[in-house]
Amino acid sequence: MSEAPTGMGEARVDQLVSLAKRRGFIFPSSEIYGGINALWDYGPLGVPLRNRVRQSWWRRVVEARDDVEGLECSIIMNPKVWVASGHVDTFSDPLVDCLGECHQRWRADHLKGDRCPTCQGPLSPPRQFNLMFKTFLGPVEDQSAAVYLRPETAQGMFVNFKNVLNTSRQRIPFGIAQIGRSFRNEISPGNFIFRSREFEQMEMEWFCEPEDDLRWFEYWCQDQMAWLQGLGLRPENLRLRPHTPQELSHYAKGASDIEYRFPWGWGELEGIARRGDYDLRHHQEASGRDLTYLEPQGGRRYLPWVVEPAIGVDRTVLTLLLDAYDEEEVRGERRAVLRLHPSVAPYQVAVLPLSRKPELVEPARRLEAALRREFATDFDDTQSIGRRYRRQDEIGTPLAVTVDFDSLQDHAATIRERDSMAQVRVGFDQLAAACRERLGG
Ligand code: GAP
Repeated sequence: MSEAPTGMGEARVDQLVSLAKRRGFIFPSSEIYGGINALWDYGPLGVPLRNRVRQSWWRRVVEARDDVEGLECSIIMNPKVWVASGHVDTFSDPLVDCLGECHQRWRADHLKGDRCPTCQGPLSPPRQFNLMFKTFLGPVEDQSAAVYLRPETAQGMFVNFKNVLNTSRQRIPFGIAQIGRSFRNEISPGNFIFRSREFEQMEMEWFCEPEDDLRWFEYWCQDQMAWLQGLGLRPENLRLRPHTPQELSHYAKGASDIEYRFPWGWGELEGIARRGDYDLRHHQEASGRDLTYLEPQGGRRYLPWVVEPAIGVDRTVLTLLLDAYDEEEVRGERRAVLRLHPSVAPYQVAVLPLSRKPELVEPARRLEAALRREFATDFDDTQSIGRRYRRQDEIGTPLAVTVDFDSLQDHAATIRERDSMAQVRVGFDQLAAACRERLGG
């Protein structure tokens, strides 16, 4: 499925990983102990970026509508859930072992040839490896206490379908949405935070009439594409790709991925699936509970069909960082800049007094406190102004406000725009309005 990257190479990913660590976006988990494979921690700048992604999705999919309800489920659920959903039997990838020197394990469908990529040794025949993490509930570690960490948030919405229906006054069509952690013991994680073993999903189950599912499927494909572009992702780096019949998940009647042009080729960013009544039907059979929907005024009774947009917070963050990362030469010097959309940038406005002298720091602090009421702000009086601009460029801050010695006379500061580096002098009393206008708010 992947194509040759255009204009972005693997080196770009390495640069981004290094920037993410150096500037406090993303650290390897438990780093002082040598890290742990495919697990990551988000630092002071990664947290606001993640939060903005979550908030933007939640606002669009839940709060801005009157037909979607929110839910937060426990991560560990009754293990019967995962039997009924089909995950115990089918949520697996083909695993091969290297029979040569290195004994590494590989995901068979990710390999190009039939030899071990590391030592060129022969490989075992593939066997299915279930991706769910298993643990034990309570003090006894036997099979009767075995439970799973959820591999998707979706099942929480299905098993709570009746709870939400009965408590919310919703009628078909309506949705139930959830943002939360999921866990998969991926055989071949990698590409930074693209595929990890613990990640966060934003999923919505849209319950509709069976005859309507195709129409809603198209609706949600368009909606999600528009949302991603609204986050600032370049349209030429996004595409909608229908699944081939061989690719479809065990529950899906049809599906499309919104793919992003990653440096290693096109890859899934979001999956939008037509799940039919697969989940409700299986949970109804396994639990013995009636999960049908009765139309008002004694209409027909049926199991609703489901359309599901499902996207990872982490994968969205990675995409935003890759899409925004740019390098250019400015007056003979290399400038690295994250051209993040103002709605996701960790800071929107940085306030920088030209010197650390109290007569500049104090008014700059006051300005920052005023701007903080409306914008996400940063204050920095540490190094030379050039280095501070470079830092703000690298962390994606769209505007920097510099307070200099002239400010004491003219009660004005300089706004510098990250992308154009254009500078404009603005009176203190006009600063908030000028920032608002430039940030598009
Ligand atoms: N409920 C359907 C479902 O989970 P999926 O395509 O397996 O579908 C949805 O996952 C999204 O979750 C993916 O498009 C991706 O953004 C994210 N995702 C899945 N596995 C991931 C992993 N190992 N690491 C990071 N993100 C992952």
